[in-house]
Amino acid sequence: MGINNVVPITVQDYRRLAKKRLPGFLFDYIDGGANKEDSMRANEEGFLNYNLIQRVMHDVDDIDTSTVLSGQAASMPLVLAPIGMAGMMARRGEVQAARSAEKAGIPFTTSTVGICPLEEVQAATRSPFWFQLYMLRDRGLVKALLERANTAGCETLVFTVDLPVAGMRHRDYRNGMLGGGFKGKVAKLAQILSHPRWVFDVGIKGKPHNFGNLREVVPNPNDLDAYKDFIDSQFDPTVTWKDIAWLRSIWEGRILIKGVMTADDAIAAADVGADGVIVSNHGGRQLDGVASTISSLPEVSKAVSDRVEVYMDGGVCNGIDIIKAVALGANGVLIGRPWVWAVAGRGENGLVDMLRVFQQEVAVGMALMGVKRIVDITADLVTYKS
Ligand code: FNR
Repeated sequence: MGINNVVPITVQDYRRLAKKRLPGFLFDYIDGGANKEDSMRANEEGFLNYNLIQRVMHDVDDIDTSTVLSGQAASMPLVLAPIGMAGMMARRGEVQAARSAEKAGIPFTTSTVGICPLEEVQAATRSPFWFQLYMLRDRGLVKALLERANTAGCETLVFTVDLPVAGMRHRDYRNGMLGGGFKGKVAKLAQILSHPRWVFDVGIKGKPHNFGNLREVVPNPNDLDAYKDFIDSQFDPTVTWKDIAWLRSIWEGRILIKGVMTADDAIAAADVGADGVIVSNHGGRQLDGVASTISSLPEVSKAVSDRVEVYMDGGVCNGIDIIKAVALGANGVLIGRPWVWAVAGRGENGLVDMLRVFQQEVAVGMALMGVKRIVDITADLVTYKS
């Protein structure tokens, strides 16, 4: 940051900091998407297609950004999305993020493939966090994970359905992170050694680096190719709505289905007893060429919002984007890359600060639109720019 860029404020500021701190392949792992990265870009740019209505001369004293998300009181309609391997981006990254979320008064979601195990996140916080599950072929393992999540106090299960197979993320191969053999290993080592601060802070002090929730089953946690093999062999591509009915029968808490992009799939999710859907294309990391999530949200919301909760994620960069999503039918939004950049760039405090700015942006935006409560952010306050 230069002399007149002293304090990071926006998501982009934190992205720049993270880029400096992280070995190249780890930065790319977060920053990248599938194939040409068209859907990843579309997610962010999609918000430009909507304009908010500015309304003046309303009493906007006493703005309240609080809401309820999956039965849990929250300071604003925002959740931290599940991110695999966050503990490689910052020292015990999931714990730092869960603490920041707790301070900000919003839910944190821990990933099946997080570095810190559920129990470590639980021990570091008092608020219930959400647990994200991928369906594994070994259903006994799934059951055991759900029991652990239940014991750790998780009340909301985020079940991700858009990863029957892993998307084609070219950057992960180009930079040697995956499948590069000896050459790849040398390249990774060079990227690591040119970031001594990361080596000390995360590489050494952030150990152990295994997949905390799956430590018994991933053969060699330090070998990313072994991890990829595990995903390919254990992530179950045969999953259908029937399996959600099974999940429903063994999980007593709430279930949100993440990765729904159409009205039909949202209706199917509601029919099998889900409590909510998350309109998501995995941050543009799976099917490249699929529509932006903000453009898919209205269709999904129209189809099921009278039956279940509707969330969205993908490309949310600030409080204004949150307001747009709420106006278009979301109960709340999730952010993925932004929170990782903040903890990678400035740790727990960085993320707390970034979330504070998000909340201020929501509050100021509401004031300038003449609304005082989240429930008052309605569809008539947003227009589509054709
Ligand atoms: C993800 N995402 C993800 N989703 C999930 O259900 N389980 C996971 O383990 C992961 N891992 C993961 C890693 C990385 C590096 C990224 C960027 C994303 C998807 C994530 O939860 C969310 O859907 C997107 O990140 C939302 O898009 P934005 O906010 O990153 O634009």
